[in-house]
Amino acid sequence: APLSLIQGPPGTGKTTTTCHLVRRLVEKHCQDSRGCNILVAADSNVAVDQLLAGLIRLGVKALRIGFPSKVSQELRAQTLQAQAEEHPLNSKIEETREALSKVKDALYSGSLKGKGKGLAHRDISLHVRDIQKYEQEVTDDLIANAEVICATLVGCGCDALLRSNFHTVVIDEASQATEPRCLIALQKAQAQLVMVGDQQQLPPVVLCPAAEEKGLRCSLFDRLLNSPTLFNQEINMLQVQYRMHPLIREWPSSQFYDGRLQDGLPMSTFSSCVMTKPFLSKSQRKAPILLLDTSDDGSEA
Ligand SMILES: Nc1ncnc2c1ncn2[C@@H]1O[C@H](COP(=O)(O)OP(=O)(O)OP(=O)(O)O)[C@@H](O)[C@H]1O
Ligand SMILES: [Mg+2]
Repeated sequence: APLSLIQGPPGTGKTTTTCHLVRRLVEKHCQDSRGCNILVAADSNVAVDQLLAGLIRLGVKALRIGFPSKVSQELRAQTLQAQAEEHPLNSKIEETREALSKVKDALYSGSLKGKGKGLAHRDISLHVRDIQKYEQEVTDDLIANAEVICATLVGCGCDALLRSNFHTVVIDEASQATEPRCLIALQKAQAQLVMVGDQQQLPPVVLCPAAEEKGLRCSLFDRLLNSPTLFNQEINMLQVQYRMHPLIREWPSSQFYDGRLQDGLPMSTFSSCVMTKPFLSKSQRKAPILLLDTSDDGSEA
């Protein structure tokens, strides 16, 4: 289908499912020899890193676009910048940079006159052009050889991806992103868009009241879900959660998900989570949820 929405309450494996789905798509595209052109995106760097880590665990060759400083330390080796440093053409780029700085030094030292000066200016523009050309070649080569590209929604609009389009674009945590950000990733999709999210969780953060009033807090995911003319397929909700203690799951399940949320892990899995605060009674220490009224304790609470 050109458009698919995957919805699931917290901890139901949306991100895990997304990673497995992407691996299947990679296998399928490679078999069809259509080239493995899949773009995986999310609003925040943290969410993109989660996807990237999941994909790498599944053996997918993923390339991370974005500032290395915004990427978690363990995943920096997957960034375009880190991979570019390892690329065979990198030595050529460095040689050209050195040559460029030598010409600049000579020029700025004032020792060159007349024709020599003119030649130096010509060499500078030639070196700059070569460096840009090599850098573009490296970028294109790395992107073409990756099975999957991972980027933030805004990162999908960066220069490195300017000339790239993708058969499939997958957006995780789509319900937390504003529409304009989703559109940056969406414009890269040639054939298929998969959006993953949960309209019952946090909407996009919008601090500007005027923008909020004009509807920026409605995500594209929400808009599609609520518009039968735009999206008229049945939505399949992931229903089994693997994160919460069953007793903690009860309230959100009944409050937001018509009581449909189920537990993937038995109570016994959580029994080791015992609170050790000395002021708690024995039974309180074993309780999975404990609400403490601190209103009488003032600032010490
Ligand atoms: N099919 C599964 N079997 C067992 N554990 C699973 C399964 N799917 C996911 N998990 C585990 O459940 C936890 C939550 O998974 P995941 O992060 O994919 O959920 P999510 O729906 O993306 O959560 P969030 O709403 O916070 O984004 C992870 O620890 C993951 O390993
Ligand atoms: Mg997730």
